[in-house]
Amino acid sequence: MTGPVSVPVELGERRYEILVGSGLLAEAGAHIGPLMRQKQAIIVTDETVAAHYLATLQAALQAAGIEHRSIVLAPGEQAKDFAHFQKLIEDLLDAGIERGTTLIGLGGGVIGDLTGFAAAVLLRGIDFVQVPTTLLAQVDSAVGGKTGINTRHGKNLVGAFHQPRMVLADIDALGTLSRREFLAGYAEVVKYGLIGDAGFFDWLEGHANAICEGDIAARQETVVTSCKAKAAIVAADERESGPRALLNLGHTFGHALEAAAGYGPDLLHGEAVAIGMVMAFDLSVRLGLCPADDAARVRRHILSVGLPVDVRTLEAAGLNAEALISHMGHDKKVRDGKVTFVLARGIGEAFISTDVETAAVEELLANALAA
Ligand code: NAD
Ligand code: GLY
Repeated sequence: MTGPVSVPVELGERRYEILVGSGLLAEAGAHIGPLMRQKQAIIVTDETVAAHYLATLQAALQAAGIEHRSIVLAPGEQAKDFAHFQKLIEDLLDAGIERGTTLIGLGGGVIGDLTGFAAAVLLRGIDFVQVPTTLLAQVDSAVGGKTGINTRHGKNLVGAFHQPRMVLADIDALGTLSRREFLAGYAEVVKYGLIGDAGFFDWLEGHANAICEGDIAARQETVVTSCKAKAAIVAADERESGPRALLNLGHTFGHALEAAAGYGPDLLHGEAVAIGMVMAFDLSVRLGLCPADDAARVRRHILSVGLPVDVRTLEAAGLNAEALISHMGHDKKVRDGKVTFVLARGIGEAFISTDVETAAVEELLANALAA
């Protein structure tokens, strides 16, 4: 692949482009400028990302004649609580935003979710642009308009659907991510293959090494294919009344594991999703829906890149099947007391199920914890 690739998200009047390529940060003003109501922007970022990329983005806005200010937050998930959100809103109002001001979220999913939610509620809604700098944000969180913050009741329970005006995914930014953060995003990449694109999963098996070692063309192809998959699902079901729930493959188990692990640094979201996807395939085999060979292949690939596949990784946290099932009961994906699972008939053949017997899940978890 050469040059940037544009992936459209077809949402009628709210249609936008995801631009994926190398060197895009330095050209950001030229891409964002034409979409702006006023040539006025406020960048929201975190200290880690700012140290690497803020100056480049500021220079790019300057070059395009866009007036700009920056707000730099401390990195980490704690920025997504009410107190930090309130401070951000006050700081944005202090900065003198107007209806035509564009917010630019420069960072990972935390910055994107926070900036997007601020844009959704400030002056009853202003424009924002996502400039994702983690793999997870480029392939997942920056696309699709889910924005929000956490409460003591759980993650992302307060938020809004608010689509960005553009997503600018500069592949070069992935070069400064730690391997662990990169792999956490890779789990979400694998998810797209498992949901509906067996050919992409094949391709990932052959290219994982190049992708993880930093090959720019392979990384661009990875982000483009993932964004196309997510864009198609979001265009079909923006508000998650149906097929968008497929994006939760591995998340029912994953969220329960994250909750049990206390959402701390011991288990990143993508790592929990990796274990969760393996468990979803194992459950599908147990229910007689999926060939055992497919589940084994999923486990092998996830393990081969260095992601966890085993729930026992968390044994120290005192996990048991009952506690995990109880965490699943608190998940957003519960309807009429039944947990929604994404199961699979094979690689690339995921489907949504609302009638899984709790006993089957308990058995799977008990086996996984005892293995
Ligand atoms: P993150 O935003 O916390 O970023 C991870 C770490 O990497 C941070 O410390 C950050 O400072 C650092 N970082 C970011 N870019 C970097 C770079 N290029 N080089 C070096 N360091 C860099 O975490 P994340 O994994 O990107 O996002 C997780 C968040 O995304 C969670 O809050 C989750 O709820 C949310 N999320 C939202 C959606 C959605 O649809 N809105 C989907 C999935 C996840
Ligand atoms: N990350 C899941 C979604 O956007 O729906």
